[in-house]
Amino acid sequence: MTDSEDDDTPQLSSHTLAALQEFYAEQKQHADPGGDDKYNIGIIEENWQLSQFWYSQETALRLAQEVIAAAGEGGRIACVSAPSVYQKLRELHREDFSIYIFEYDKRFAMYGEEFIFYDYNNPLDLPEKIVAHSFDIVIADPPYLSEECLRKTSETIKYLTRGKILLCTGAVMEEQAAQLLDVRMCKFIPEHTRNLANEFRCYVNYDSGLD
Ligand SMILES: C[S@@+](CC[C@H](N)C(=O)[O-])C[C@H]1O[C@@H](n2cnc3c(N)ncnc32)[C@H](O)[C@@H]1O
Repeated sequence: MTDSEDDDTPQLSSHTLAALQEFYAEQKQHADPGGDDKYNIGIIEENWQLSQFWYSQETALRLAQEVIAAAGEGGRIACVSAPSVYQKLRELHREDFSIYIFEYDKRFAMYGEEFIFYDYNNPLDLPEKIVAHSFDIVIADPPYLSEECLRKTSETIKYLTRGKILLCTGAVMEEQAAQLLDVRMCKFIPEHTRNLANEFRCYVNYDSGLD
């Protein structure tokens, strides 16, 4: 090859090369996140088509602490359509708790055996290993603010729980939540990483630390 042919070879500018390297590094982290990074809230980006709005760090921590207290030592916790709480619980290294993430978005299958595929449209279509009334507490944040979605999610919640329920949903769902699950609104107001148009609240059926 002559010098003139060399000159014709397309070259990337150092700026483009740096951007490309950064892109590949990010891709690698998403494909194979190591250590605690894999439990970062936001490691899986929100997909608004799936009604995904992640909690702020503070809210996820508060809810994680609440379910730990409610579940009791060595308890079993079900996070239904509430992946940030699952992530925060695992980030806190609470290996003494048995925690499952019930989710429709298969990107969360990265959490292996603890991921349970779940579609609220088929509320009881769950694997055999998920035994009825085997969770000390169920925390749920249904994807839609509709009676149908809450009613179907409630079927799942009632199937899973031994008693305790922590529901996070819109303030507009208060009456329906009370009818379906016998839960009452807490003083604590959950916050999200983005400002949402709808007012969100938490509801419980036990004496919680969220009041
Ligand atoms: C309003 S978000 C709640 C997320 C919560 N704020 C958090 O930070 O963990 C609703 C959740 O429902 C999930 N979802 C979407 N479609 C669903 C379906 N058909 N069945 C069950 N869950 C679904 C979304 O992936 C999302 O995690």
